[in-house]
Amino acid sequence: MLEFRDLYRSFGDVIALDGLSFTVAPGELCGFLGPNGAGKTTAMRCAVGVIQPDGGSITWQDGPIDLRVRRRTGYMPEERGLYPKMRVHEQLVYLGRLHEMATADAAASASHWIDRLGLGDRSDSPVEELSLGNQQRVQLAASLVHDPELLVLDEPFSGLDPIATDVMSDVLLERARAGVAVMFSSHQLDLVEDLCETVAVISKGRLVLGGNVAELKASRGRRLRIEVDGGTAWSQRIGVDAEVVSVDEVGATVLLPPGADAAPVLDIAQQQGRLLDVHLEQPRLSELFRNAVGTTEDTLGDEFQRRSEVR
Ligand SMILES: Nc1ncnc2c1ncn2[C@@H]1O[C@H](COP(=O)(O)OP(=O)(O)OP(=O)(O)O)[C@@H](O)[C@H]1O
Ligand SMILES: [Mg+2]
Repeated sequence: MLEFRDLYRSFGDVIALDGLSFTVAPGELCGFLGPNGAGKTTAMRCAVGVIQPDGGSITWQDGPIDLRVRRRTGYMPEERGLYPKMRVHEQLVYLGRLHEMATADAAASASHWIDRLGLGDRSDSPVEELSLGNQQRVQLAASLVHDPELLVLDEPFSGLDPIATDVMSDVLLERARAGVAVMFSSHQLDLVEDLCETVAVISKGRLVLGGNVAELKASRGRRLRIEVDGGTAWSQRIGVDAEVVSVDEVGATVLLPPGADAAPVLDIAQQQGRLLDVHLEQPRLSELFRNAVGTTEDTLGDEFQRRSEVR
């Protein structure tokens, strides 16, 4: 298990990590979320040993992140890190060798990932000649070539077209199913909601929401949308257990607490008129995210404030 425990890291007066704790288990695909400046990149850099935390600890399988662990880790840095003039296959072999692979194994693995990621025809091209999305595929291949047991990817989906997004999603899922602990940062909440079983949401360097996505959604209750003939006056008569969250000309939406029965609310609405439409929906991850981190304006303002203070 990858465990962040009470992690602190500052840059001058800026507190980037402020007691961050969470875990990612082998076989888990964890979406690492948070507004700009929340501390995601800093946490990931600490996890792979690029920078050291000021306090707290990060462990993999209860041991320190030492050279042996780093050789078994795949990392995609935010600033990316390929040699622009080196050819794709040659570069992947070189990176595999840096992770102590035998040349023949590195070459076979490089070819495998080049094919798997749809880069077959670019194998002998210098990386700088590839489009941004294809460079990103090479970057993913670079983090996978040595068959790591831990994957730490900083915004692997940014800048990808829908097809490359599907390829990236498939590969991350496949790696997690093969037992790899995968964490990746992203701002694409809908994609993370579809792809990940777990999330860790941080804000101002701390965990503000974390765990199984389905359980987090279920814990917030469900929304019941009802439209009946004859208006929405029924919504003023529902019991204390449910809360009306919105009313418009044709219907009303009611928030049901976790485990609450929808039938009593439906009965009250149907006393008013014929049922026209009804559906139950869970909150979206984006809604949970906004609740957990506060409004976008606040966090952006805060980040702006922190950046100004540094100058
Ligand atoms: N090398 C550095 N020097 C000074 N400040 C830094 C440095 N790295 C990060 N910070 C500051 O630490 C805070 C966290 O930054 P970090 O890059 O970890 O955020 P992030 O969650 O990755 O954001 P984004 O979503 O924009 O990538 C920010 O306030 C940032 O300005
Ligand atoms: Mg970042």
